[in-house]
Amino acid sequence: MNAITVTPITPRIGAEIGGVDLREELSEETVRLIREAWLEHQVIFFRDQDLTHEQHIAFAAQFGELHIHPTVQHHPEHPEVIVIHADANSRQVAGDGWHSDVTFEKNPPVGSVLRLTEIPPDGGGATLFSSMYSAYDTLSPAFQEFLEDRIASHRLGKLPGHRQDENPPSAQHPVILTHPETGRKGIFVNQGFTKRIEDLSRDESQAILQYLYRHIENPNFHVRFHWTENSIAMWDNRCVQHLATWDYFPATRHGYRVTLKGSPNS
Ligand code: SIN
Repeated sequence: MNAITVTPITPRIGAEIGGVDLREELSEETVRLIREAWLEHQVIFFRDQDLTHEQHIAFAAQFGELHIHPTVQHHPEHPEVIVIHADANSRQVAGDGWHSDVTFEKNPPVGSVLRLTEIPPDGGGATLFSSMYSAYDTLSPAFQEFLEDRIASHRLGKLPGHRQDENPPSAQHPVILTHPETGRKGIFVNQGFTKRIEDLSRDESQAILQYLYRHIENPNFHVRFHWTENSIAMWDNRCVQHLATWDYFPATRHGYRVTLKGSPNS
């Protein structure tokens, strides 16, 4: 058996994992090493993992309980699996703005495991990931202090592929989240779901949120992942935002996401 390898892609975020076949049952030590790399690099990538849905689910389940998305259509036989698809008939695609997943829930997911099986030509359809640790670390200490202990409200708005409820789900979270496993601080507002910072006027809240959204777009915090067939991205939703590019229309991009459920302590 090959030893597992962890190759950083940028100094701040992202690493590629090699020497592991995710179709096989993994040893406790391998799961521990993958988890360690995931926590350190925030998003990790695997190549050439031709998994069945059952194997995809079994791999993700080694890192926590699985999440069933409240408003996105699931795979017909596997409620834990969300189908990600765009083609010549698509008018919009899921995830093409910066966001963390499902932050309109009280306990947002801790992470996601996305596997793509059909990739657009010429490097199209890359996913960008931004480190919220780096985004936080590069704010001035005075602004960090201002944001500390602030609370923001999050709500599900109108989004492609989401069922629209009369009373959309909503939740409140700290603007600066201390990661429960690493102890590092990161920005936890996102333009997908955050509506307002509490206790500020609407204009103040808007100005600060817009500033933070521009700040996280700094390429110095990013890794851009170019997909190949059967590659996997596994991100930590507590300290990473992501954006799916849509530069490949009318080509097809297809895959499956399994999401790790959050809890009050995660
Ligand atoms: C997502 O937001 O989970 C989709 C990301 C992608 O399609 O690259």
